[in-house]
Amino acid sequence: MKPESTETGREPRSDRGISPSARTRRFPLLLSVILALAALSVPVRGLAATSPQDQGPASAAQIKRGRKVFNQICFACHQHNGLGMPHLFPPLAKSDFLKADPDRAVWIVTHGLVGPVTVNGKQFNSAMPSQQQLSDEQVADVLTFVLNSWGNSGGHFTAASVHELRTHKG
Ligand code: HEC
Repeated sequence: MKPESTETGREPRSDRGISPSARTRRFPLLLSVILALAALSVPVRGLAATSPQDQGPASAAQIKRGRKVFNQICFACHQHNGLGMPHLFPPLAKSDFLKADPDRAVWIVTHGLVGPVTVNGKQFNSAMPSQQQLSDEQVADVLTFVLNSWGNSGGHFTAASVHELRTHKG
């Protein structure tokens, strides 16, 4: 009986069984944690890109282009001062309805709106015709103008986010 030789005979076997494979396993585990974190951050960035509030300040050039579209189309109902007309056309100036969900406005402009809506405590039950003839860029510009006028809280749309929002109802 030689206890030492049995010890040394076992040790290399258990070494081969644990240490080398544990060393090779540790790296892929770390890598997969990093990859999982990276994958998580991608959809978060993707969502932020469609929210006008998260895209920083609007450019003066875009607001100027948007004012032109507004003065050709929207003013007829919503008026130059954005206040609309009682019972007929809701205000865009400081509209709580607009502020609550600016993305929804892309759908309204490109598909129209029919039926009761409450804006700043007043009910409107009318119909806005869709302005589907406007390009993604024109919709982005006019809504950016609206969001940055009459004391509204700012933000801006890109043509790409308008394209996404006008094809998928939120
Ligand atoms: C022919 C009149 C008319 C025109 C032109 C028009 N709208 Fe409207 N708009 C309305 C009416 C009416 C409503 C409310 C519809 C309802 O009662 O369901 C409305 C609702 C809205 C709303 C949601 C309610 C609010 O006040 O926040 C937004 C945003 C809006 N319009 C933006 C625009 C923009 C931007 C344009 C120009 C591209 C435009 N509208 C052109 C008549 C019009």
